[in-house]
Amino acid sequence: MKVLVTGGAGFIGSHIVDRLLEDNIQVYILDNLSTGAMRNINPGAVFLKKDIRDRDVTELFIRERFDYVVHQAAQTTVSRSLANPYYDCDVNVLGMVNVLEASRVSGVKKIVFASSAAVYGDTAVLPLTEDCRTHPKSFYGESKLTGEKYLEKYYENFGLEYVALRYANVYGERQADSGEGGVISIFSKKLSAGEPLTVYGDGCQTRDYVYVRDVAAANYEALFKEAINCSVNISTAIETSVNELIRNMARITEQTPQAIYTAERQNDIRRSVLSNQAAGSKLGWCPNYTLAEGLSLTLKAQN
Ligand SMILES: NC(=O)c1ccc[n+]([C@@H]2O[C@H](COP(=O)([O-])OP(=O)(O)OC[C@H]3O[C@@H](n4cnc5c(N)ncnc54)[C@H](O)[C@@H]3O)[C@@H](O)[C@H]2O)c1
Repeated sequence: MKVLVTGGAGFIGSHIVDRLLEDNIQVYILDNLSTGAMRNINPGAVFLKKDIRDRDVTELFIRERFDYVVHQAAQTTVSRSLANPYYDCDVNVLGMVNVLEASRVSGVKKIVFASSAAVYGDTAVLPLTEDCRTHPKSFYGESKLTGEKYLEKYYENFGLEYVALRYANVYGERQADSGEGGVISIFSKKLSAGEPLTVYGDGCQTRDYVYVRDVAAANYEALFKEAINCSVNISTAIETSVNELIRNMARITEQTPQAIYTAERQNDIRRSVLSNQAAGSKLGWCPNYTLAEGLSLTLKAQN
């Protein structure tokens, strides 16, 4: 069995590659290394340095005949999407359509897509369930939602099976500072350098932090469970404030970090937590790592 992981040189993609290789699956990585890195690439996989927008992606798919595709490659930041909507759309919409067309033409069985909690935007209803209103605040959220809609149409028109996984804030080893869930990665680096932690606002804003190996396991389940064809939240369903996060990290590292509180960031969502009931019932998935366990592993890798 051949599985292609786009974005497999990135943070989450590289953990998915590791998980698939554990089962001796033949894994291919397609990545242009724009934010990914060679050091993340598992030597057990075949690496193809390529852009998902390249015209000859379909030829590659026809030649290699992948059974499954895990699509992680993307423009991943909200701020960049607002600064450069054209680029966001080019990679996250047109690049995705290029991957979908190549999948359709070459007979891929299923595609698992990295979507995001950003598709929901601000809402008074918590925890977020998959049937909540989607009203993204940014072009990034909009391009992820558009990706989900393309998947739905490819399924309805051509029978290409899919699962869209709406990740909460993912954290863990190999995370760069810039991505969506970067706060843990930034704090880990600051802590190991003995530097103060910058907190925007009062630190009471909450997020749902899900550990990357749990996310890799969710992708694995989504690939091999049959007849899903919908969007599913991947989360812990636990709300954690930035202040709690700092307390947890302080306990694990046995340090007393200095936190500097600055102005709240414009457009920051105050609270975020996602239900993971559908992930349980449809994928048979639930998170295996507590925040303390995930943080310990992340901090250990940092030092
Ligand atoms: N990290 C999070 O908390 C989070 C939350 C929600 C959704 N996501 C989504 O998960 C996926 C993985 O994110 P990540 O945090 O691992 O980011 P990442 O930047 O580490 O990984 C993205 C990978 O895609 C590659 N890439 C980017 N543009 C490409 C292109 N045009 N052609 C080929 N390769 C390209 C990059 O080089 C990188 O290796 C993304 O789709 C992201 O939007 C992440």
